[in-house]
Amino acid sequence: MKKLIKNGTIITAADTFTAEILIEDGKISQIGTNLPAQGAEVIDANGCLVFPGGIDPHTHLDMPFGGTVTKDDFETGTIAAAFGGTTTVIDFCLTNKGEPLKNSIQTWHAKSKEKAVIDYGFHLMIAEINENVLNELPYVINEEGITSFKVFMAYKNVFQADDETLFRTLISAKEHGALVMVHAENGDVIDYLTKKAVEEGNRDPIYHALTRPPELEGEATGRAAKLTGLANSQLYVVHVSCADAVEKIAEARSKGFNVWGETCPQYLVLDQSYLERPNFEGAKYVWSPPLREKWNQEVLWNALKSGQLQTLGSDQCSFDFKGQKDLGRDDFTKIPNGGPIIEDRLSILFSEGVRKGRISLNQFVDLTSTRAAKLFGLFPKKGTIAVGSDADIVIFDPQAERVISVETHHMAVDYNAFEGMKVTGEPVSVLSRGEFVIRDKQFVGKPGAGQYLKRAKYSVNTPLNINQTLSI
Ligand code: URP
Ligand code: ZN
Ligand code: ZN
Ligand code: ZN
Repeated sequence: MKKLIKNGTIITAADTFTAEILIEDGKISQIGTNLPAQGAEVIDANGCLVFPGGIDPHTHLDMPFGGTVTKDDFETGTIAAAFGGTTTVIDFCLTNKGEPLKNSIQTWHAKSKEKAVIDYGFHLMIAEINENVLNELPYVINEEGITSFKVFMAYKNVFQADDETLFRTLISAKEHGALVMVHAENGDVIDYLTKKAVEEGNRDPIYHALTRPPELEGEATGRAAKLTGLANSQLYVVHVSCADAVEKIAEARSKGFNVWGETCPQYLVLDQSYLERPNFEGAKYVWSPPLREKWNQEVLWNALKSGQLQTLGSDQCSFDFKGQKDLGRDDFTKIPNGGPIIEDRLSILFSEGVRKGRISLNQFVDLTSTRAAKLFGLFPKKGTIAVGSDADIVIFDPQAERVISVETHHMAVDYNAFEGMKVTGEPVSVLSRGEFVIRDKQFVGKPGAGQYLKRAKYSVNTPLNINQTLSI
């Protein structure tokens, strides 16, 4: 059905203006004043901001990890995402050495197809590079539209790949037009430090942080960036947590390397002291990389403001406290890593970032949506308010006050890492391709309504981009 959004203040990554938005056939058909309202449902956005639906470039839904599986799947996870103003997720498809990539991708399609309530794409983990993998890449990119690969530099003997694999992935990505993502921590040294800590009887959650010091994130980030420069390729560093890593990204960018960085809400507002909470509560705050000393937060905020970091992902990877985080009660190395964030990504950035004057409203939209759309081949279908773009739209009340709590959240887990945090600013209604998913703070969407997104090749800042523009 045709819809007309009136009286809202439209925010894009570039502009702030007042106009009406006409939606037809799931797309934005007109932006202007006095648009034809006949036959359209009129939505009054008075007092609200109207911006493009969030794109969460980093989620782990229904993912096996540490002997268990994340609690939120593509249904509960995308419902929670929608409540929080996110209309697209890009989830990490795990792969297994020796198995065709195609099988893993089919597994991820099966997990998501009937369940997602918003649109979604996949990144693909690269665990090894050999003839079989190289032969499959054209299918992955051209047929599946998966144009970003993830290499883990940590989680030794589980996900970790060696430097040769990373380097050859960078070269292949350059050749095929894909973006390489890295989890940058030095897994070998972490492995040594964690074994030593356990042997010495240091088994509490805080040792998760103490055995993964920021130097090891900085070192791996710098190594990946250097290899990217050598391969003349492109790199996206996920979940940047500390000053050491920000410095390495800034250094690479100053040399003109195509290196991009993402941080996550948890690193902006929580710190290492949370891991020391009594009664094993510290386990709720076990992420890799770990939460850092508080002073790092200011460095991250400044990097978002200055553009040295470009995106905010959630790294949604949720486990119950009881029954899952519990697995590591006697040994921190057995605590499944990750937390529930998908729902509060926008609220936290808006409340702590925009309202506290750390970033502008336009930067907020860029960080939560537009930049991810550009980097991951979804722009301008997603990531902006423009004629022809999908009508993925958030109507956001910037004055609404809320206390984040497990009592009211929509994720499937038994705790919230931000419990008790007051935030100002909340989505009122959220549309995905012109249909309400959230209407007046109620879920009205449908599992299976989300569409799989085949994404375009990486072309930001490369000569290819200019050629493509010229040839149109
Ligand atoms: O602790 C985290 N980040 N868990 C999710 C997996 C990953 O490393 O991104
Ligand atoms: Zn309709
Ligand atoms: Zn990671
Ligand atoms: Zn992750």
